[in-house]
Amino acid sequence: MSGQTLPPAIETVALRKTFGPIHAVGGVDIALAPGRIYGLIGPNGSGKTTLIRLLVGLARATSGEARVLGTRMPSRPLLSRVGYMTQSDGIYPELSVWENLRFFAGLYGRADRARLLAALALVELDDRRGTPALELSGGMRRRLSLACALVHEPTVVFLDEPTVGIDPALRVQFWAHFRRLTGGGATLLVASHVMDEADRCDELLFIRDGRVLARGSADELRRRAGTDRLEDAFLHFAGVTGAAAAS
Ligand SMILES: Nc1ncnc2c1ncn2[C@@H]1O[C@H](COP(=O)(O)OP(=O)(O)OP(=O)(O)O)[C@@H](O)[C@H]1O
Ligand SMILES: [Mg+2]
Repeated sequence: MSGQTLPPAIETVALRKTFGPIHAVGGVDIALAPGRIYGLIGPNGSGKTTLIRLLVGLARATSGEARVLGTRMPSRPLLSRVGYMTQSDGIYPELSVWENLRFFAGLYGRADRARLLAALALVELDDRRGTPALELSGGMRRRLSLACALVHEPTVVFLDEPTVGIDPALRVQFWAHFRRLTGGGATLLVASHVMDEADRCDELLFIRDGRVLARGSADELRRRAGTDRLEDAFLHFAGVTGAAAAS
């Protein structure tokens, strides 16, 4: 490249979201370059899901701006370029695996058979095509949710704890697929509590009390925390010290 920096795929400017007295997102400024995997880590209730919902346009900011691919969210036209896997499964329990996929792909006019089959193959649910979602196991439902989030081949993908309940072999395949997506230019923001997944991200954003307290590669965060374990770095940035951290 000619030294030129690409415009950010994901950007927030003084972004805030309050729920009564709770500052779920308390003034976040980030600009994330495209083609990378970003990990969003932080304790329960630190604002990860709220930040993602603001970026997807499902929550309205109290103040500030959320932008995806340069467009201020919420933006209906941009949704065709955005994938979102919610923390709780957003699929329709009465619809079959195939019907769910066709529904989500159809929202963006992308419900061709080849695309649906590719999404099914990714999550290894080919043999469950006709099964109603409510009859799937918990992990299978997560897999279907991921397929529904990716079926329209979005450019920017938000994944909220995508591999909870996913068995280790498939988890490895998912991460290989996430990496392939960035190879094609996609940008991923992945909220996770799994430290070995966080380690696979290009860059981590550590969020606490609605603020980004630390940002950098896993190696940088380990170095700054003075540890060689990412888990200990998490405890360091979460403000957990002494006996609690040692136990
Ligand atoms: N719809 C809502 N109404 C009121 N408070 C909310 C709402 N959504 C989130 N909150 C509050 O905002 C804060 C941040 O919640 P959020 O779900 O963003 O955290 P999180 O980092 O995703 O947590 P977890 O790791 O448990 O998923 C919490 O205090 C939560 O109770
Ligand atoms: Mg959450």
